Amino acid sequence: MKDIDFDKLKKEVEAELQSIKTQEEIENFRLKYFSRKSGVLNDILKSIKGLSIEKKKEYGKFANQLKIYIENEIEIKKESLKMEHIKNLEEEEKIDITAPGKKVFSGHIHPLTHIIRKSVDIFESMGFEVASGPEVETEFYNFDALNIPASHPSRDMQDTFWLDPKTVGPGFLMRTQTSSVQVRYMEKNNPPFRIVCPGRVFRKEATDATHEMQFYQIECLVVAKDMSLVHLKSVLELFFKKLLENEKIKVRFRPSYFPFVEPGVEVDVICFKCLGKGCPLCKKTGWIEIGGAGMVHPKVLDSAKIDTSEFKGFAFGMGIERVAMIKYGVGDVRLFYNTDMRMLKQF
Ligand code: DAH
Repeated sequence: MKDIDFDKLKKEVEAELQSIKTQEEIENFRLKYFSRKSGVLNDILKSIKGLSIEKKKEYGKFANQLKIYIENEIEIKKESLKMEHIKNLEEEEKIDITAPGKKVFSGHIHPLTHIIRKSVDIFESMGFEVASGPEVETEFYNFDALNIPASHPSRDMQDTFWLDPKTVGPGFLMRTQTSSVQVRYMEKNNPPFRIVCPGRVFRKEATDATHEMQFYQIECLVVAKDMSLVHLKSVLELFFKKLLENEKIKVRFRPSYFPFVEPGVEVDVICFKCLGKGCPLCKKTGWIEIGGAGMVHPKVLDSAKIDTSEFKGFAFGMGIERVAMIKYGVGDVRLFYNTDMRMLKQF
């Protein structure tokens, strides 16, 4: 057998140790020397079996020293790699508590949702209860129960999306007004009550700067004893003062016609920009038309089997988009729906 050059072997080991950079490399290195099957040290021990006792002792001693040396070095290397790793982590995961914070982008509710919520809040603060009805409505609640019979010309005022009678049966439509909730509520609840109904309505109209095929309305209905236009006016004035955040807001009524109220009125709010002086917003009239209202028609109360000799009611309805356009100075209703962030971010 050739002499074993332990010095050379040790130098090789040292060089290998130098180049080790990872825990995995350490493991490979350990296996190379200590593996039972093919480890270098085992090979040495096997190869000295047939040698003389002195040589065996000498080589055995060297081999043992080498083994202890390698074992130690492995431990040292492992430890130093661990320390290095921790040091790197400190560097990589360092938190600079003095660095300026990253701005978290938080969205906000849509301007229409804002107007709806605010309106509902105001009515609730006046003791109103929120009521709702379906968007797919029957002809009865949308028209007939509101004193709008089939032959009545007022049906022409609203172009209706009728649902296909072959699919869903006759008389179904997309509601054209939140007034449809009135009789639904009255059928199930006894007066006195005051309700507010926000919701989406649909009209088969050509879309332009002031018309959308779907839009939001808010309706209010009060039925109690001795109700009059005076109550209606004071409720609306208080509501608009709060909604437009201006104590100077006034409301005026102009005679109008809606089949479900008698008398019916058009509701104007004093222009909150010029307070009646006349400006571009109110087209120099000093007033802004904002909704319809009136004393609930006895026929509507009859439809809901409410005793008209005892109870009277008033109702009001307005379009949310219109209020938002006026309040925020938005010139085109379609801007509320086209999800253009440049527009929406302004609120
Ligand atoms: N529903 C009417 C419309 O869509 C608005 C309206 C007018 C509602 C008069 C009312 C009312 O409650 O009394 O044009």
